[in-house]
Amino acid sequence: MPWISLIGFMCSGKSSTGRLVARQLGWPHFDTDRLIVEREGKSVAEIFRERGEAYFRDLEYRIVEELPPERDIVVSTGGGLVLVEPAMEILRVQGPVFWLSVQPEDVLERSQRPWAAKRPMLREGEDLPARVDRLMAEREPLYRRWGTPVPGGFDHPREATRHILSILSKRDEFRPYFGFGGSPR
Ligand code: S3P
Repeated sequence: MPWISLIGFMCSGKSSTGRLVARQLGWPHFDTDRLIVEREGKSVAEIFRERGEAYFRDLEYRIVEELPPERDIVVSTGGGLVLVEPAMEILRVQGPVFWLSVQPEDVLERSQRPWAAKRPMLREGEDLPARVDRLMAEREPLYRRWGTPVPGGFDHPREATRHILSILSKRDEFRPYFGFGGSPR
């Protein structure tokens, strides 16, 4: 009963790719940011502002811990979940973890749009390019450590989905989920 988990930087398309992978396999899709927002009744930005980052990271852990271990599910995570090692250990034990990699230019291009206002880690008024570079440099070794790399990007969920399904179709434990042509059953 595997989980398929997606990690990666903000704007790497984790939610949209996760949704597509789940749809292709006919599995339920869970999005940790969305589950946190539902549980708290507040936006991610409000949670950061009112309770701080450590509180948010703790919520991320609790949400992952409560996901159903016995079910086949696809999990899209927030970009900072790699900082929460016990949560990453759960994901890894439950099944494959894919890292949707993205270039800093793509993140910066997105950060000019209303998209950025929802991301407290990319606060207005700061030197965004420097901040994105620093966060990426800090996190890249962690993404690499925990995930199988897949080229990602907010605008490319279909390509990333194809890539992930192609990798899965070649893995023994996923054989029952795929037909002869390598397409999901
Ligand atoms: C964060 C990424 C966000 C969200 C929160 C913190 C991060 O998720 O969890 O704003 O630390 O990178 P997305 O990666 O979906 O933007």
